[in-house]
Amino acid sequence: MADLMDKLVSLAKRRGYIFQSSEIYGGTGSVWDYGPLGAELKRNLKELWWRSMVHQRDDIEGLDSAILMHPRVWEASGHVEGFTDPLVECTKCHRRFRADMPEVESDQCPTCGTKDAFTEPRMFNLMFKTFMGPVEDDASLLYLRPETAQGIYVNFLNVQTTARQRIPFGIAQICKAFRNEITPGNFIFRTREFEQAEMQFFVEPGDDEEWFDTWMDARMRWHVALGVDRDKLRFHEHTPDELAHYAKQAYDIEYLFPFGWKEFEGIHNRTDFDLARHQEFSGKRLEYIDPGSGERYVPYVIETSMGVDRTLLVLLADAYREEEVAGEERVVLALNPKVAPLKAAVFPLVKKDGLPEVARKVHEALRDAAIPSFFDASGSIGRRYRRQDEAGTPWCITIDGQTNDDATVTIRDRDTLEQVRISTDRVVGWLEERLRT
Ligand code: GAP
Repeated sequence: MADLMDKLVSLAKRRGYIFQSSEIYGGTGSVWDYGPLGAELKRNLKELWWRSMVHQRDDIEGLDSAILMHPRVWEASGHVEGFTDPLVECTKCHRRFRADMPEVESDQCPTCGTKDAFTEPRMFNLMFKTFMGPVEDDASLLYLRPETAQGIYVNFLNVQTTARQRIPFGIAQICKAFRNEITPGNFIFRTREFEQAEMQFFVEPGDDEEWFDTWMDARMRWHVALGVDRDKLRFHEHTPDELAHYAKQAYDIEYLFPFGWKEFEGIHNRTDFDLARHQEFSGKRLEYIDPGSGERYVPYVIETSMGVDRTLLVLLADAYREEEVAGEERVVLALNPKVAPLKAAVFPLVKKDGLPEVARKVHEALRDAAIPSFFDASGSIGRRYRRQDEAGTPWCITIDGQTNDDATVTIRDRDTLEQVRISTDRVVGWLEERLRT
């Protein structure tokens, strides 16, 4: 199973999904760049999330808050004090590790193999520090945010009053977050710079447990609707030891990655912890006044927090297949067409009889309809199919000799390999119909 990760990393590079950051300089530790296809896949994933959270609901508003925030935010949130991992150092090779790694717990250095050479664990804060302005001192110290949620809490009243929302309602945003992880790894699974799609749902205290169940169910259904194999998804309830400092109850949504069951989304009942702390530290009231009863209270928060990069890894791992077709091996990414970077590829079968010109027209019609398509006139038809199968393109459109006779083209389905023949001027509508459902 583990070599599936090597295959994914290699395919991601070969097809322009994901490259190592600053590769020509030897790479930056656990930071990745998304290439042409990866950027599209990520945009599509975020777009679907935004649509389901913000556009298709009246009770959730969107937000795009800044990465740099007042440093007191992180004192109030508890991150300055508590966002730490236990760190040990091998006194032989001087590599540093999280103290809770299984190898470290068995007292053997994962890098040099030395036994019993670790220092005592010390707590290491995962927030990246930076400085605002020209002076680098404590007064200008800022943090790169380790979660996007705090940008939502400090804007709770701004959004509630300007959007004239009543509780229960939510605020959603998709943004970058940064964590100086001690042991990042597994490709884009654990990185130091990543994106989160987070939604904070504000409810009346007492209604929190019911809303928690509602959101757990909704989030699992969303991933299944995206086409992720239900048998590889499960919930994991946090034990009291695992609960974050802000959470009363938490469930992870886990996926069976090639390296085991791991979390890619968390659902947390954060109670009134964050708003109450910001109220205390800022001295500003963050209460909701019920317009009916006039009652004032600090709302409870149910949070859904999806890692965009990790979910993208779920999509890639779940879609990867090796198959034999007509005696030949093919690698295919069976991505849901809604998230697939390219929806179609257009191939003129031969470079004569005006076929490339007809194919260009089909490609341009798709482009005008905002359906991403790839024009490919080079190599054998088999090679062109294989390239698109690996890229995850759901439909390949071939313009052949018959096109000139009856103005039809063939469309080949990536997964079933079935081919249909339809008239050239129906291609755009045919694809639009399938992308809608
Ligand atoms: N606001 C709550 C919060 O940040 P979390 O469980 O620490 O909760 C939520 O993170 C999600 O963010 C995780 O489920 C994961 O998908 C993603 N995530 C966290 N740390 C990450 C990292 N170092 N690299 C990639 N994704 C990460």
